[in-house]
Amino acid sequence: MPQKPFTAVPAGQLPSGALLIPALLDLILDTHHVYARDVLPRIRESVFAIPQADLRRDERLPKVREAVEALSDEMLTHMHREESMLFPVLRHIAASTEVSPVDMEIILPPIECMQREHGFIDELLEYLRQLTDDFQPPAWAVAEHRALLDDLAAFATDTTEHVRKENEILFPGVLRLAQVQDA
Ligand SMILES: [Fe+2]
Ligand SMILES: [Fe+2]
Repeated sequence: MPQKPFTAVPAGQLPSGALLIPALLDLILDTHHVYARDVLPRIRESVFAIPQADLRRDERLPKVREAVEALSDEMLTHMHREESMLFPVLRHIAASTEVSPVDMEIILPPIECMQREHGFIDELLEYLRQLTDDFQPPAWAVAEHRALLDDLAAFATDTTEHVRKENEILFPGVLRLAQVQDA
């Protein structure tokens, strides 16, 4: 699969091969993971600050609250799994001079697991997009309601790029590295 450039680092400056993996991991952790940990508690606060009268006014809002809780729990657990289990193994493989078929057998299931979780996170964001008319506030929305939708829209955009870096650059890069060393 050809590498696609990503926005945070110009494609011409991207390191190649084994050097790409640790640089990309640092970039993902320092930008997307830091941002998600910053914004998700704020999103939860905003959704719980919407007045009860407004929850009764739009029957979709209680579902938004449930979906936000599910999204926050899933995303935080997902990032913890990446940081504590998968990413250290990917760093180790990138630093290795030899990658064995056993290494490949070890990393494939967790990579597939992370990809499935990306799919679930994407479904939750799509569900929230539908429940909120594409993150557009109604005319009567209070400030917390508007802040919630602004943060959700920004988080959806950032998560699309976050997942793209992992699914389309990081994971194929590690697998290609292993294949090259195996050849
Ligand atoms: Fe991640
Ligand atoms: Fe991820």
